Amino acid sequence: MNINIDTIIGNGTIVNTNATIEHGSYINDFAQIAPGVRISGRVNIGKNVFLGVNSTVIPDIKITDNVIVGANSLVIKDLDKEGTYVGSPTKIISGTWKYLKE
Ligand SMILES: CC(C)(COP(=O)(O)OP(=O)(O)OC[C@H]1O[C@@H](n2cnc3c(N)ncnc32)[C@H](O)[C@@H]1OP(=O)(O)O)[C@@H](O)C(=O)NCCC(=O)NCCS
Repeated sequence: MNINIDTIIGNGTIVNTNATIEHGSYINDFAQIAPGVRISGRVNIGKNVFLGVNSTVIPDIKITDNVIVGANSLVIKDLDKEGTYVGSPTKIISGTWKYLKE
């Protein structure tokens, strides 16, 4: 994993192999950053967020709490509603209840 300057990682957050988090980002508590994820600079990620393998987040994006981003997805807009997002660019497909709230 590579974490650049001025980035803060919250408690209980897991950053997996070959994930990259660029400068000035804030990753809140209990996030899971899967292998190969690319988080650009100045990204703000909420609590309990799951970023699937090889997903990418462009700079200056904010992702709210309790969000799932699918494998290989590309986040180009803020994700300000809890839910499951997939694709390039991401679209919401469902809530997160079956993953996060059981
Ligand atoms: C996002 C995810 C959680 C959704 O799982 P799910 O709720 O079981 O979703 P489904 O498989 O029922 O798919 C629902 C729809 O979304 C699409 N979809 C699912 N994941 C997708 C992805 N990553 N990218 C693009 N489309 C995706 C499916 O093709 C399906 O489309 P359709 O309705 O047109 O057929 C899962 O697909 C995923 O990407 N998991 C990430 C796994 C991972 O990275 N693990 C890391 C281990 S360290």
